[in-house]
Amino acid sequence: MTGSRSGDGSSLLEVRDLSISFDTVRGPAQAVSGSSFTIGAGERVGMVGESGSGKSLTGLALLGLTPPAAQVSGSVLLKGRDLLTLPRKELQKTRGQQVSMIFQEPMTALDPVFTVGQQISATFRTHQKVSKAQARERSIDLLAEVGIPEPKRRYREYPHQLSGGMRQRAMIAMALVCEPQLLVADEPTTALDVTIQAQVLDLIVKLSAEHGTALLLITHDLGVVAETCDRVLTMYAGQIVEQCSVDEALERPKHPYTSGLLSAIPRPGVAAQDLRSIPGRVPSPIDFPDGCRFGPRCEHAGAGCQEPQEMLLSGLDRWVRCGRHHELELTGAVSVEPPAV
Ligand SMILES: Nc1ncnc2c1ncn2[C@@H]1O[C@H](COP(=O)(O)OP(=O)(O)O)[C@@H](O)[C@H]1O
Ligand code: SF4
Ligand SMILES: [Mg+2]
Repeated sequence: MTGSRSGDGSSLLEVRDLSISFDTVRGPAQAVSGSSFTIGAGERVGMVGESGSGKSLTGLALLGLTPPAAQVSGSVLLKGRDLLTLPRKELQKTRGQQVSMIFQEPMTALDPVFTVGQQISATFRTHQKVSKAQARERSIDLLAEVGIPEPKRRYREYPHQLSGGMRQRAMIAMALVCEPQLLVADEPTTALDVTIQAQVLDLIVKLSAEHGTALLLITHDLGVVAETCDRVLTMYAGQIVEQCSVDEALERPKHPYTSGLLSAIPRPGVAAQDLRSIPGRVPSPIDFPDGCRFGPRCEHAGAGCQEPQEMLLSGLDRWVRCGRHHELELTGAVSVEPPAV
């Protein structure tokens, strides 16, 4: 089996054996290799991993938005319909109405030459048969709901007239205007000031809970997932290497990479200089290691690690891509020593 979680057909989203590759001048780049996962209605799932792990490409595939040069295989079933084979018109209808995306940089989604209000209203009217006045009213309500003060005035303003945090809120409003069932948020707070980051994250979680919207939250920060999600998918070098509940990942990680990410999270009682980062770097998809892809960085590497690793079931709905996981005693976030007094 190349992935995990076969799914029982009742999931909102079921991704099966998703692979994304590119032909490059240096040879084929297998950026995403055989990812399988599900997301239930209203569920919040975090996808975590260092830069270059294949997270953004996976997120884009859920909207049929992978770059034109990408070769994509597998299936992305949203309520049973495969978005990878859907005719373009159907896909455009699905986008916004059933699944939408928040990007790290709001200007990726907002057009500088139209007012914020025009853009939210236009998205609404593309998908719903409503009058201009109804679309305006709904857009202003939504701007208020995402915490934008003076929404009537902001409705008439251009994106450059808003602060970074307000622009991100406007993009969230645009993503939610048609009440999608699934929201993909790719590093939605990384470009914002630290003080604004927590507010925007809280807003995304609050809105997804209130509207019953499922969330795939993509981030390099496992601490963010710990605060917001029910389940976590850890990605490394184009593969999902662990998937389980957030509590299980925090208390008893089974993959050395998840444990390494946990060791790097700032936490009470641990000075910044004592946080451990994982030595080395994510390999390029052009030359992934032949055996376990994490092998060259893994302090537990041993017999059998020279072979490619399969996803293994290791508990109820708990998967890990490490043949040695039974033998390892890995550090979780809760096993941090309390501060000496
Ligand atoms: N258009 C492309 N052509 C070739 N390689 C690409 C392209 N887009 C992304 N990649 C490669 O795919 C890998 C995964 O990218 P990405 O999904 O953006 O990772 P992440 O979001 O985890 O940082 C990276 O090594 C990246 O260089
Ligand atoms: S298979 Fe081996 S090298 Fe890979 S994560 Fe497990 S222990 Fe480490
Ligand atoms: Mg990314």
